Formats: sequence, structure tokens, C-alpha cells
Amino acid sequence: MITSLFFFYSFLCFVLLISECFSSSFDHHLCSPTEASALLQFKQSFQHRSEGYCSYRCYGGCYPKIKSWNESRDCCSWDGVTCDLLNGHVIGLDLSCSLLPGSIHPNSTLYQLHHLQTLNLAYNDVYPSSIPHNIGGLTNLRHLNLSDAWFQGKIPTEISYLSNLVSLDLSNSYALELDEKTFETMLHNFTNLEVLSLSQVIISSPLPVNISSSLRHLDLKHTNLLGVLTESFFLMPNSLETLKLSGNLRLEGVFPKRNTLLTELDISYTGISGELPDSIGNFSSLKYLNLQQCQFSGSIPDSIGNLTQITALDLSYNHFTGRIIPSTISKFKHLTLLDLSSNSFSGEIPDVFSNLQKLRYLDFFNNSFIGPFPASILSLTRLEHLGLSSNSLSGPLPSNTRTLPKLIHLDLSYNSLNGTIPSWVFSLPLLYSVSLQHNRFRGLADEVIKTNPTLKELHLSNNQLSGSFPQSLANLTNLETLGISSNNITIDEGMNITFLSLSSLFLSSCQLKHFPHFLRNVNTLVYLDISNNKISGQIPNWFSGMRWDSLIFLNLSGNSLTGNLPQFRYDNIGYLDLKFNSLQGPLPSSICNMSKLILLDLSHNYFSDSVPHCLGSMGLLTALDLRRNNLTGSLPPLCAQSTSLSTIVVNGNQFEGPVPVSLLKCNGLEVLDVGNNAINDTFPAWLGVLQELQWLTSCKCFWKLRGNDQIRW
Ligand SMILES: *[C@@H]1O[C@H](CO)[C@@H](O)[C@H](O)[C@H]1NC(C)=O
Ligand SMILES: *[C@@H]1O[C@H](CO)[C@@H](O)[C@H](O)[C@H]1NC(C)=O
Ligand SMILES: *[C@@H]1O[C@H](CO)[C@@H](O)[C@H](O)[C@H]1NC(C)=O
Ligand SMILES: *[C@@H]1O[C@H](CO)[C@@H](O)[C@H](O)[C@H]1NC(C)=O
Ligand SMILES: *[C@@H]1O[C@H](CO)[C@@H](O)[C@H](O)[C@H]1NC(C)=O
Ligand SMILES: *[C@@H]1O[C@H](CO)[C@@H](O)[C@H](O)[C@H]1NC(C)=O
Ligand SMILES: *[C@@H]1O[C@H](CO)[C@@H](O)[C@H](O)[C@H]1NC(C)=O
Ligand SMILES: *[C@@H]1O[C@H](CO)[C@@H](O)[C@H](O)[C@H]1NC(C)=O
Ligand SMILES: *[C@@H]1O[C@H](CO)[C@@H](O)[C@H](O)[C@H]1NC(C)=O
Ligand SMILES: *[C@@H]1O[C@H](CO)[C@@H](O)[C@H](O)[C@H]1NC(C)=O
Ligand SMILES: *[C@@H]1O[C@H](CO)[C@@H](O)[C@H](O)[C@H]1NC(C)=O
Ligand SMILES: *[C@@H]1O[C@H](CO)[C@@H](O)[C@H](O)[C@H]1NC(C)=O
Repeated sequence: MITSLFFFYSFLCFVLLISECFSSSFDHHLCSPTEASALLQFKQSFQHRSEGYCSYRCYGGCYPKIKSWNESRDCCSWDGVTCDLLNGHVIGLDLSCSLLPGSIHPNSTLYQLHHLQTLNLAYNDVYPSSIPHNIGGLTNLRHLNLSDAWFQGKIPTEISYLSNLVSLDLSNSYALELDEKTFETMLHNFTNLEVLSLSQVIISSPLPVNISSSLRHLDLKHTNLLGVLTESFFLMPNSLETLKLSGNLRLEGVFPKRNTLLTELDISYTGISGELPDSIGNFSSLKYLNLQQCQFSGSIPDSIGNLTQITALDLSYNHFTGRIIPSTISKFKHLTLLDLSSNSFSGEIPDVFSNLQKLRYLDFFNNSFIGPFPASILSLTRLEHLGLSSNSLSGPLPSNTRTLPKLIHLDLSYNSLNGTIPSWVFSLPLLYSVSLQHNRFRGLADEVIKTNPTLKELHLSNNQLSGSFPQSLANLTNLETLGISSNNITIDEGMNITFLSLSSLFLSSCQLKHFPHFLRNVNTLVYLDISNNKISGQIPNWFSGMRWDSLIFLNLSGNSLTGNLPQFRYDNIGYLDLKFNSLQGPLPSSICNMSKLILLDLSHNYFSDSVPHCLGSMGLLTALDLRRNNLTGSLPPLCAQSTSLSTIVVNGNQFEGPVPVSLLKCNGLEVLDVGNNAINDTFPAWLGVLQELQWLTSCKCFWKLRGNDQIRW
């Protein structure tokens, strides 16, 4: 950039003749007129186009840099333009995050700026543009950055002429293609190249073995690399510090045996497999190692403890086995992320976490760990995520008063933890979600649970909690999701609990005898499951009268409800399950108001009379189950106005008359069961028509007229 003194001179130039300016003693400070004109033409090529998009990667926001370019000032002072102070040539153009309004023509005067050393068009949307052949003319380029600019098409071989490049970033444009030869040239012949980022470029060729010794950072994520990552790639003299090969599923090979300089190695989501070699201890500079979702097996060599600089270690979703050695893991003093999820690690989790004070993310999900919850985890003052779900941990949780001040997610579900749940579990200051479902907890510790405004999700289902609903949970007034299904819990009718923002309540398979009264204070309900309880009697008026506009899922099945089906006022409901109750009487026509129904299950009740015809015209209904009721009359005209139904079961009623011809339009039908009714139709005549229909070949339909009288097709 140039000082304000030059602004003054550039202004002067418009007063004087430009040529005179050049002959003045300051001429070498001024923008070359041909380059100024090239830049202005570049600007004009966007005329009458509205501004482009701002990538989410532009943390500092976006603004249209070229908008302010005009002749009244020297081009060296224009936004994004850098000149050589000695000769006034434009040597740098940074138009990243500047809302470039659309495509750049291959002829663009931009590519005439032959003195450019830096060109950055990153984070714009210049679609549809290709990288032109004349990019090869910009041989002075040291830094070329077209990242996330949505260039497309073949990268021209002329890019090989840019042998002075120090950094080249063509990442994240998603539709750029690079041929094998040019790829090799970039890696091998660019002898000054330090940074090469081709992430998301379609390369589809093998990784060359011979790479320039200048390369320090190589990013080839999601490039469809083929072949084998050979040992020789790492044996070449090189100074690679970061190597990112993630997302190349067809890249095979084994973990490299030797490289001492790498600080970052990401081979996640590749076909690289085998065991980790003992020599992994030689990678002593490694700070980041990501092996997620490869095919690694065997145990972790002790020498991994040599990686004392490591800050992130992700071994998740492999086939690793064996124990975690305490003395090994306790050496990772800089570790912020440790993910061992979805492997077959076994033995106890070493209780050595007090040495890992920088940990922020810890996940051992889905392994075979046994033994107690490692209490030293509670000393981790920076931990944000703790997941030990789906192991075989047993015994009680430690009781502890002050702990885990940064924890946001706690997931200990699917273990065999027992005892009472200590109150710290609910009271950590930043906690958002707690998952303790599928354990053997017997109750909550007899401690005060204070209001916790951050806690939104609490999962306690499938434990052995018993007695009345824990009053101490009533202080968690901001809960949005509460799961206590499959516990021995009751809710006293008089219990006054206020969950103002509750949207999902799972209270299935408990011992409820009444509809939970506290729901009267809740109007944000989306999902309610109180199935398989001991609720008897009629559906109370207060319940059916609630204006739950956001309610989408309601499951009252498996109770002992009696009386008529009331007129619900949940007009947006998608799933209504009332099966296995003792409801009776006719189906109210108000059911027709539930026009968003996807599943309607009224089976195994005593509903009678004829069915409202609107059931034939519900636009989204895919499953209708009316089996085992006492319904009469003719079947509604199913699929008459919509073809979404895939399951129709009306078995075991007293429907009569013919099967509605409208069924021919149910082109996604998978199950049709009209058996055990008084339907009188001549089946073969039907079949004749149905066989003409294509959908029949994929339909697992069966036709049932009497008892076991089934015809499949
Ligand atoms: C030229 O640019 C300057 C600042 O960049 C601005 O103040 C001025 O209004 C512009 N002039 C014209 C004619 O666009
Ligand atoms: C592009 O440049 C070539 C030669 O320089 C010229 O013949 C052609 O007309 C130009 N095309 C456009 C669209 O400007
Ligand atoms: C490319 O430019 C963007 C935006 O300025 C920057 O974030 C990114 O690091 C650059 N790439 C390289 C390799 O320098
Ligand atoms: C790359 O370098 C090799 C020798 O190292 C040479 O044979 C080849 O011609 C060069 N390729 C280009 C495109 O410069
Ligand atoms: C790698 O490239 C260098 C420089 O072009 C060359 O000297 C060396 O022989 C090559 N090595 C292999 C194994 O191809
Ligand atoms: C650990 O690293 C040192 C050098 O930092 C090396 O000498 C030693 O062999 C390594 N140990 C293992 C077990 O890899
Ligand atoms: C809790 O689990 C531990 C370890 O499995 C067991 O020894 C203990 O008896 C259990 N306690 C209760 C009350 O079930
Ligand atoms: C369920 O809790 C009640 C008391 O609320 C108790 O009498 C009963 O034994 C418990 N049942 C089970 C299976 O724990
Ligand atoms: C609710 O929290 C308050 C303090 O925030 C406490 O005094 C009270 O005992 C708590 N109630 C229950 C039932 O735990
Ligand atoms: C239940 O609690 C709410 C809010 O705390 C209060 O407004 C309401 O009066 C209470 N109802 C009963 C029956 O105690
Ligand atoms: C079914 O309906 C018939 C006649 O409509 C009636 O006689 C019978 O009692 C009903 N059965 C039940 C269980 O409601
Ligand atoms: C079935 O319907 C036909 C006419 O549609 C009638 O002739 C016949 O008697 C009926 N059979 C029975 C068993 O109701």
C-alpha cells in the first residue's frame, strides 16, 4: 500500500497531463496506466451485475472492493491493489471476500497483469468461469489463491509455467479437474512451492512419489486419489509438515513408517489399513493425527506415548483392539481432543486424566470398556464434551461438588452404571445435554438440584428409577427434551411442575395412571409419548382441548383409555397412535381436520360405525391401521385424491361391499390387508385389472378375504 502522499500525487496527475506525471521525480510511485486501464476494464466487465455471495469462510464479512475503483485516484491506492513501490507495477491483487458479481471471461484483462506476484480471488462466486490458458502468462506469480471461488472445468496445463509459485490454493471449488501430468508437475517441478491446497479438486490419479523438497503443506482432501500411498512417498527427502489426504476412499496403503517432521497427518476416510507400526513413536513432532474411519486394526503400540506434542488424536471408527495403557495415555499433556469411538478397545479406562488438563473433547463411544467411571475425568477444567456411551462401565458415579466447569455434552448412556445420580450431573454451569439412558440408576441422589438455565436435554430412559416423578427435576425449568421412558415412575395428579419450553417428552412404559397434569402449562409440545402406561378412563377435556399447534407426534397406545375419541385440536399432527386401548364409538369427522397426518393407527379398539370418507383424501397419509375394531359400512375411497398410502390394514372389522376401485391409484402400496370383513367382491376380476399395473411387481401386498384366505402377488 502506498502512503497518503501518493494519493495527493495521483490527484495531481488528473490536473496535469499524465505523461508529465511520469516524468516527474515521483513517477516511479505511480500506477502503470496500462495496468490501471486493465483493472478498470476488469471492473467494467461486471457492470450491470448484482453483487455475488459472501462465503461463510469470510469471518471478517465481505464488501465489494472493486466498487470504489475509479480514475480519480491512483490505482495503487485502490482497495485490494498492491504496487511495486519502485516501478508502480501492480504486483498484488487481493479480491478475497469481495462479492465479485459473477463470471470472469477467459479474455479478462485481469490476466494481462503480468507483473502480478499475488492473486487472491478466494471466497467469491465467479460461476460460471474457468481458469483460462493465459493464466500461464502470469509467470511472476508467487501466490495464487482461487479457493472457494467456484471456478470449474479443466485446470489448463499452462498452469505448469507458474514455476515461481510459493503457494497455490485451488481448494473448495468442487468442479475443477486436474489431469495426472499437471498434478505431477505441480508436486515435482514447482521447486519453490511450499503450500499446495487442492482439496475438492477432481484429480482421480495416483499420488506421485517424487515431490518437491520445498513442499511443507499439502492438502489433497476429497480429490478422488487412487492407488497406494507408498512408503517411498515418505522416504523422499521432503520437508512436509502437514499432509491431508482425508476423504479419498480409494487410496490404499499402510501407515507410513518414517517421517519425522510431520506435525499434522490426516488420513481419515481413506482405504488405508493395517496395524500401526512401533515406529509411530518416531513421529515425535506430530500435533494432529486423524485416522478416523479407516480400516486400522491391532493394538496401539506403546511407542505412541512418544507423541508428547500431540494435541488431537482421532482413532475413531476403526477396528483397534486391546487396552489403553495408563503410562502411555498420561504422557499426552497437550491433548485437547481424544476420540477412540467405535473400536473394540477393552479393559478399564485408565484413571489418569488429571495429567491431561487441556482436554476439551473426549469420546470413547461404542467400545468394550469395563470397570468404573474414571473419577479423574472430573478434574478436567476445560472439558466440553464427554462421551463414554455404549460400553460396559459399571458401579456408581462419583459424588463430587465442584467439577467440569466447561462441560456442554455429557453422554454416559448404554452402560451398566448404578446407584443414585449425583446432583453435579445436572448443575454444571454450561451443560446443554445429559444422556444417562440405558443404565441401572435407581434414583436421584437426595440433593438439591438448582435451576440450570443452560440444560435443555435430559435423557434418563431405561433405568430403574422408581417412585413419583423426582420433584428435584422441577427446578430444570428450561428443559426442552425430557426422556424418562421405561422407568418405574408415577406422576401424582397434584404435582405442579413447570417446564416452559418443553418440546419432547418421553414417558412411555412407566407406571403413569393419569395424563401428566403439568402439560397444561406447556404449549411448546412437539413430541409426546405416554404409551404403555396404566392410564385409564376417558381422554380428559383439558388434554384434547390443548392448543398444541406444534404437536407432530402423539402416542397414547397401550393404555386403558375408554370413551369416545374427542375432537383434538392439534391440526398439525403427523403421527397419531392410539392402538391397544378401549376407545369406542364412531370416529369423529374432526379427524378430517388433521390434514397433515402421515400415520394414523387406531387399531385394537372398539371403534364402530362407518369411517369418515375424508380418510381417502388425506394428502400425506402413508399408513392407515384400523384393524380389530367394530367398523362397518363401506371402505372409504382410499387413494381417491392422493397416492401416498403404502400400508392399509383394515382386517377384523365389519366392512362390507366392494373394495373401492380408487385403490388402483395407490401406486406405492406395500401392504393391503382387508381380511376378516364382510367384503363381497369378485377377486379375480380385480386381479385382471391390477396385473396391468406396474407397481404390482414391487408390492408385497396380500389379499385377505377370510381368516387365512390369502392370495399374494
Ligand atoms: C472515486 O472513488 C472515491 C473513493 O474511493 C470516491 O470518494 C469517489 O466518489 C469516486 N468517484 C467516482 C466518480 O465514482
Ligand atoms: C477474446 O480475445 C480474442 C483474441 O484476443 C478475440 O478474438 C475474441 O473476440 C475475444 N472474445 C471476447 C468475447 O472478448
Ligand atoms: C487463500 O485465501 C483465503 C482468504 O484470504 C485464506 O483464508 C487462505 O488461507 C488462502 N490460502 C492460502 C494457501 O494461503
Ligand atoms: C518437470 O521436471 C522434469 C524433470 O525433473 C522434466 O522432465 C519435465 O519436463 C518437467 N515438466 C514440466 C512441465 O516442466
Ligand atoms: C526425484 O526427483 C529428483 C529431482 O527431479 C530427481 O533427482 C530424483 O532422481 C527423483 N527420484 C526418483 C525416485 O524419481
Ligand atoms: C521416541 O522418540 C525418540 C526421539 O525423540 C526416539 O529416539 C525413540 O526411539 C522414540 N521411541 C520410540 C519407542 O519410538
Ligand atoms: C452396582 O454395580 C457394582 C458393580 O457392578 C456392584 O458391585 C454393585 O453391587 C451394584 N450395586 C447395586 C446397588 O446394584
Ligand atoms: C415400582 O414402584 C412401586 C412404588 O412406587 C413399587 O411398589 C414397585 O415394587 C416398583 N416396581 C418395580 C418393578 O420396581
Ligand atoms: C430449586 O432450587 C432452589 C435454589 O435455586 C433450591 O432452594 C430448591 O430447594 C430447589 N428445589 C428442589 C426441589 O430441588
Ligand atoms: C403451578 O405452578 C405455576 C407456576 O409456578 C403457578 O402459576 C400455578 O398457580 C401452580 N398451580 C397449582 C395448582 O399449584
Ligand atoms: C359391534 O357392532 C355390532 C353391531 O354394530 C354390535 O352388535 C356389537 O355389540 C359391537 N361389538 C362391540 C364389541 O362393540
Ligand atoms: C355379493 O354381491 C352380489 C352383487 O354385487 C350379490 O348378488 C350377492 O348376493 C352378494 N353376496 C353376499 C354373500 O352378500
